[in-house]
Amino acid sequence: MSRILLAGGAGYIGSHTAVELLEAGYEVIIADNYSNSCPEAVKRIEEITGKSVKAYELDIKDTEKLENVFKENKIDAVIHFAGLKAVGESVAKPVLYYRNNIDTTLSLLECMEKYGVNNIIFSSSATVYGEENPVPYTEEMNRGTCTNPYGWTKVMMEQILEDAAKANKDLSVVLLRYFNPIGAHVSGKIGEDPQGIPNNLMPYVAQVAVGRREQLTIFGKDYDTPDGTCRRDYIHVTDLAIGHVKAIDYVLEHKGVEIFNLGTGTPYSVTEIVETFEKVNDIKINHVYGARRPGDLPESYANADKALKVLGWKTERTLADMCRDTWNWQKNNPNGYNK
Ligand code: NAD
Ligand code: WQD
Repeated sequence: MSRILLAGGAGYIGSHTAVELLEAGYEVIIADNYSNSCPEAVKRIEEITGKSVKAYELDIKDTEKLENVFKENKIDAVIHFAGLKAVGESVAKPVLYYRNNIDTTLSLLECMEKYGVNNIIFSSSATVYGEENPVPYTEEMNRGTCTNPYGWTKVMMEQILEDAAKANKDLSVVLLRYFNPIGAHVSGKIGEDPQGIPNNLMPYVAQVAVGRREQLTIFGKDYDTPDGTCRRDYIHVTDLAIGHVKAIDYVLEHKGVEIFNLGTGTPYSVTEIVETFEKVNDIKINHVYGARRPGDLPESYANADKALKVLGWKTERTLADMCRDTWNWQKNNPNGYNK
């Protein structure tokens, strides 16, 4: 069975993907510097699956250390999750973001070339559609203008991977454009564990629910949307993880570059998220409406037809599942992994 290297595999999406890959029979190796995660997540992956995971603590930018991983293991494919992802922080520290996100990608490509590994899946983002494309987004649209350095790193890394595949006809690249992953593994053992004040909606809601934050501010209620709040394509992280398993099957069998949106295709508003979380979990989320957050688009959602047609993948979990599983994780782990 194929052996998959998960760069940044201890993080939120990587840990859920590790579980689904292991359950599908793949062997998984994780390389992570734990800058936004912790070794406990790897233990929990093993607990859930009853399988062992080889984990390396290293900075992916450190090509020499990364080489050891390729030397010691015959790797069939890489999934590249290792990146910094806080939009606001990327505006304050653009150089850190460009250095980390671009260099991790280059190190991986260099090691892959040296050790004859030809398959890579990249964690891209709906953010690459930028400001000018109309919703729902389809994969053949041009990449747009991003509102922050984080988004630009994704645009640049897509370009780098496309150029690498143009130069090396043996290379197989899958760019997965995630929409808004939320939720947690149904066991409640792994989930999203942001450091400090959460930037994203669902972890903030969960921390209000568990009493770590006083109230949620809903950013803007005067958008041109049905209820005036922004609409997003929220996707259960387990559905997203299963999308990676399908993408691995695909990347191992093909050459060249393929792009897939991973979303449900159905947008929900911020108010709908709060109301569903309250209803499903029977808990009140203290909230107020505030000013718009700079850089937010009114709407972002996928046309998810291509992933269904080509990968045979579609989401199966509902918004209620996403809210229930988020709360199950948060209430069982009020302080996250306690790192
Ligand atoms: P995360 O922060 O939980 O996971 C990223 C992991 O990469 C962390 O474990 C972190 O420690 C590790 N990492 C970062 N830089 C590293 C380095 N130089 N060397 C080794 N490890 C490093 O984030 P996530 O939500 O799991 O996101 C995974 C990927 O998906 C990221 O590339 C992110 O940009 C992308 N993405 C995330 C979302 C989202 O909303 N969560 C949406 C679209 C795309
Ligand atoms: C969702 C909605 C907010 C927090 C970001 C990145 C994107 C991708 C996913 C990586 C918005 C509103 C939020 C709060 C709120 N990441 N909100 N109060 O901005 O759609 O996407 O994460 O690629 O690139 O930009 O997600 O969860 O931050 O916000 O009202 O305290 O919730 O305004 O409408 P976003 P989000």
